[in-house]
This record gives sequence, C-alpha cells and structure tokens, in this order.
Amino acid sequence: MAKKNVKVLPAARQILDMNAFDAGAHTGALNPLLERRIANVGASAVLFYREPIEVVSASGSWMTAADGKRYLDFYNNVPSVGHTHPRVVAAVTDQIGRLNINTRYLNSVVDLYLDALKARFPASLSNVVLSCSGSEANDLALRIAAATSGGTGIIVSENAYHGNTSIISDISPSALKRRGLPDHVVTVAAPSNAGQSDSIENAFAADIKRAIAELGRRGHKLSAFICDSIFSSDGVYADPPGFLRKAIETVHKAGGLYIADEVQPGFARTGDAFWGFARHDVMPDVVTMGKPMGNGFPMAGLVTRPELLERFCEDTGYFSTFGGNPVAAAAGMAVLNVIDEEQLQENALRQGNHIKERLRDLAAKDDRIAEVRGAGLFLGIELCRSGKRDQPDAEVASSVINGLKDRGVLIGAAGKFGNTLKVRPPLSLSEEEADIFVGRLADTLSALPAA
Ligand SMILES: Cc1ncc(COP(=O)(O)O)c(C=O)c1O
Repeated sequence: MAKKNVKVLPAARQILDMNAFDAGAHTGALNPLLERRIANVGASAVLFYREPIEVVSASGSWMTAADGKRYLDFYNNVPSVGHTHPRVVAAVTDQIGRLNINTRYLNSVVDLYLDALKARFPASLSNVVLSCSGSEANDLALRIAAATSGGTGIIVSENAYHGNTSIISDISPSALKRRGLPDHVVTVAAPSNAGQSDSIENAFAADIKRAIAELGRRGHKLSAFICDSIFSSDGVYADPPGFLRKAIETVHKAGGLYIADEVQPGFARTGDAFWGFARHDVMPDVVTMGKPMGNGFPMAGLVTRPELLERFCEDTGYFSTFGGNPVAAAAGMAVLNVIDEEQLQENALRQGNHIKERLRDLAAKDDRIAEVRGAGLFLGIELCRSGKRDQPDAEVASSVINGLKDRGVLIGAAGKFGNTLKVRPPLSLSEEEADIFVGRLADTLSALPAA
C-alpha cells in the first residue's frame, strides 16, 4: 500500500547530461552543422541546449553566434579572465612564434611560471607537475596517494565529477550511467545543512568517518579523500568557511591523503581566497588545477610535497609530451598577471556579493528559488516546486536555462537532481553585466507558468 506523505525525489542526473542537446527529443529538421557534428562524433556528442548555438567569436563576458546574436556568458569556467583577453592572446602568440618544446629541455619561461604559480600556495607544496587536462592531474594525484598511503580506498562526494580517465571515471559518480561505483569507492553526501541537526562541519566529518569504516569493511585502507573545494557538480556548497576542517583531520588520522580539486573554484573565482581550499583553512597533500589556468589554452597540473612525488617516481616514470610547454607557461603567466593587475579576485568578491544580494531579493518574491549560495563569482541558485523547498525541480531549471538562452544569457545546471543553476561568469564581470543577468533571470522566471 502506498504510504501517505512520502517524499518522492526525482532520479539523480549525470553532470554531462544536464542542459544537453537531446537528438532523440529534437523535432524538426536538424541544422546542417548540427547534423555534421553528430555524424562526426556520434554517441560522444555533448552539445548544450535544446537548440545548440554556433559560436563564432567572443570577447570579455560576451560570445557572438553565427546569426549575430550576442550572449552574456555566465557558464564560463575556462576563459575566466575574459574571453580572448588581449594579454593572454599576445603571450601565446609571441611564445608560439618563438619556441615550443617539451620539458626535457631547459627554458626559463617555464621556470618563471612555476615559481609564480608556487608563490600562490603554502610553501610546503613546492613541487609542480604540469599536464594538459584536469583529468590527467587528478589521475596522477590518485596514483601519488596510492603510492604514499599504501591504501586503495577513495572517498568522493555523491555527485562528484573529477574527469574522464579510467581511474578517474571510477571516482566520478555523476559520470557513471549504468554501472555503479567500484568496491574501492565510497561516497559522502554534499555538505549541506538540509536535514542535519548537527553543524555542517560535524555532520560532514561524521560522514567521512562512516565512509572510512565502510571502506574498511570492504577490505580497503583509505588512500584519499578528493573533493572539488566548492562541490560544484553536487550543487555548489561553499559555506560556512572552515566546514572541511574536521573532515580533513579525520582523513589524515586514517592515513589518507586530502586531494583538493581546484579545477573549478581555483584561480581567484571564490573571491575571498585564490583557492577554494584556502577558504576552509585546511592543508591539502595534493592540489589539482586546470580549466581557468590558461584562460582557454589547454593546461592543468598539480602541486604537492616533494617527498610524495619522490615516492611515486621511485616506482613509475612520468612524462607528458605537451604538459608544461613554454606556450602553456606563457599563457599561465599572463593569466596570473591579469588576475593581479586587474584585481580580479577583488572584483569576483564584489560582483559576487552584489549578484547574491539581488538574487536573494528575487528569492523573497519568488518561492521557486529555494536557496542562493556560493562564494565570489561561483554561485548556485537552487530551484524547487513552488513553495516546496524540499522538492527539487529540474524541469524549471531546464526551462530557465533555455529561457535565459533565448534572452541572450548562457548558464548551466548542477546538483544531484540538476535543479541548481550554476552562476559562473568571467571574473572581469562589470556591475552592469551582473544586473543584466539578474534582470533577465527575473524576466525568464516570470514568463514561466507557476509550478
Ligand atoms: C571538478 C573537476 N575536476 C576535474 C575535471 C576534469 O577536467 P578536464 O575536463 O580538463 O579533464 C573537471 C571537468 O569538468 C571538473 O569539473
């Protein structure tokens, strides 16, 4: 017999399926470019939007489509200092016209960059390995953890995404479709206060303890806890700063490593710190980074303590042909300089607080907005059924995303149920652009039928 008042939650969603083009659901003729793309990449196609956009150019916070329509880019997590920033373009163009080789040769451009990057980290994290993707960086981080800890068990958040290699897909619940997580991977819930009587810090640490015990029952000693420092694919959980402290203590006590995945929140996006982990006053054993590192030039990497890297390299030779080449170093250096000279961290904090305040005003008038949260220019807007904060509404999120696109604003979704809008504009955002976003979001919401 069906029980009354049982809350039925929607099915969990894969991160790559959120806001994705669905050829099966598409009606009418496909445009020729779309048809060609699908013919070329087949089942691996991951286009955005019910009607994908053909983009031809971009500058600052704006992208221009082939039909001339301009879009304000609030989806941005790579060209973080602004699309086609002239300083980055000049640095890459100059260096590729001069020299581009692998790291088996000495080249001062590379070491100047490594010094500048290391200066952004605690002094103990003094070795850097550069690679071409966040997935590669996380893959190496897990291998370093295994060599250091002697363990095999990994803890991740329940909707985490950490990349696409074989061992990283295994620790990315939001990328797995039919198969479940392997035996050596245990998840913890995103650190929210929903349904918790304890503080977020205590509840999260207790969950980590439970996960370590579960791994033990399965015969796996803890190797690492890896988390995106802003839990972006879980739905953006940033506050209160410091909530990771007890969890990390627990991980270290069990002999595991703490890997801070800064691929999304790193490089000043959270406004009050350069790295997401720094907001929590915790010390990672390995920090991985990528996406905004080269403002679009493909580069990524990790930093760690020398003894950890030594232990790994005793057993395994490690080299990347393209990782850390002089063009990447030139791009990365330009990004660091632009962040400093244009005071983008300060701007991220200022504009982020401004947007948060305006969104909270909007939430006070619209009960489909369950919560606005986040830090700096990394915010989450959780949407629910009208007035029912515990009932996630991915349909409304999808309608808002497509409605905003029609109004010239690009935005994405996250969260276990795909009902949290991810607000992630370039760090160079102006207040006028911030206001355009909030205004168009309000218009989009008011044009939707009430749920
Ligand atoms: C938190 C996080 N880590 C790692 C990755 C993987 O990075 P890449 O796509 O550069 O391999 C992603 C990509 O979306 C990510 O969001």
